[in-house]
Amino acid sequence: MSFCTKTTSDSTAMDLSDMRKKYKGDEECFEENHLVSLDPIKQFGDWFDQATKCPEIGEPNAMCIATSTRAGRPSARMVLLKGYSKEGFRFFTNYESRKGGELESNPYASLCFYWEPINRQVRIEGNVERIPYQSSCDYFHSRPKSSQIGAVVSRQSTAVPDRNYLRQKNAELEGKYSSLMMSSSSTK
Ligand SMILES: Cc1cc2nc3c(=O)[nH]c(=O)nc-3n(C[C@H](O)[C@H](O)[C@H](O)COP(=O)(O)O)c2cc1C
Repeated sequence: MSFCTKTTSDSTAMDLSDMRKKYKGDEECFEENHLVSLDPIKQFGDWFDQATKCPEIGEPNAMCIATSTRAGRPSARMVLLKGYSKEGFRFFTNYESRKGGELESNPYASLCFYWEPINRQVRIEGNVERIPYQSSCDYFHSRPKSSQIGAVVSRQSTAVPDRNYLRQKNAELEGKYSSLMMSSSSTK
């Protein structure tokens, strides 16, 4: 299958058809008998552990999540896996972001991990549900103060005037929260 349906005389077009790396030999091919479990979550756990132990993988929990509008127009971006169990795969995002809006109208999503140094990808599909409000709050408060402020400063998926706008808002919030912290510690 090819997505390229017409030839082009565009001089800026890049032909990447020669770009390929040498894949490993037969002895390193994946065979079904390499599976440690037929339970997909246990199998995922084994592969995830291998990825976390691989020093060349900086963020083994980074995954691409594809969502889609109700009309079926897809969009994808990276997020971080923050937990998994037989209940599902947990990530955190802003409900008001583009992906948040798309999941609101169409809860079906697809995740894809790609761990290049170990030649492995994992695809997961299903419907996405909000976790309980309290769990979201607990996670938010478990983050370093600077990350909490960063999350509040930038409204996800919306344009900002410039970087200075973000710096200023960040400084305002840091000022506000450091004085709150000082006043709460001075009352103890
Ligand atoms: C490695 C990586 C990890 C990320 N992790 C998250 C995350 O856990 N949650 C999140 O909301 N955005 C995360 N982002 C930012 C998203 O990719 C995205 O830019 C943002 O959420 C807005 O997406 P949207 O406009 O499609 O909703 C991450 C980006 C990268 C490159």
